[in-house]
Amino acid sequence: MKLSNSATVLLAAVFLTPAYSAPMAMQSRGSMATSTSHSGDGTFYQPALGACGKKNTSHDLIVAVSHAVFDSYPGANPSNPNKNPICGKKLRATYGTKSVVVTVEDRCVGCATGDLDFTSTGFGKLASLDKGRIHAVRWQWV
Ligand SMILES: *[C@@H]1O[C@H](CO)[C@@H](O)[C@H](O)[C@H]1NC(C)=O
Repeated sequence: MKLSNSATVLLAAVFLTPAYSAPMAMQSRGSMATSTSHSGDGTFYQPALGACGKKNTSHDLIVAVSHAVFDSYPGANPSNPNKNPICGKKLRATYGTKSVVVTVEDRCVGCATGDLDFTSTGFGKLASLDKGRIHAVRWQWV
């Protein structure tokens, strides 16, 4: 039930992805995890011990992906998030003309599917921290 809901949300996110990224999404049919372009809001938080079992700090270029993305990643094992193969994967997030490459180390419970929760250092590469939340952050696995 939970997984199929996540899959539905993921599909919806793919459909909602702006038209210019459609060719990329089509090329990657069948390998969703590697090159589909995603989008959502960007926020930042103070990391501690993450879902991947690592202690990170605000200075680290790590990111928390949504619970939907984390839990539906191929090979995800709900009983041990530390062993989720998504841990340690890198993604490039783009906002306007800026981009940053960050490593997945955490799972964001309050995030909608395509949202990313950065550290202040990571968020700061995309926008002023004053903004708090930015919209239409696009990202893909690298
Ligand atoms: C996250 O923290 C671990 C140690 O707990 C460290 O090995 C790793 O390099 C950190 N990740 C990043 C991207 O800085």
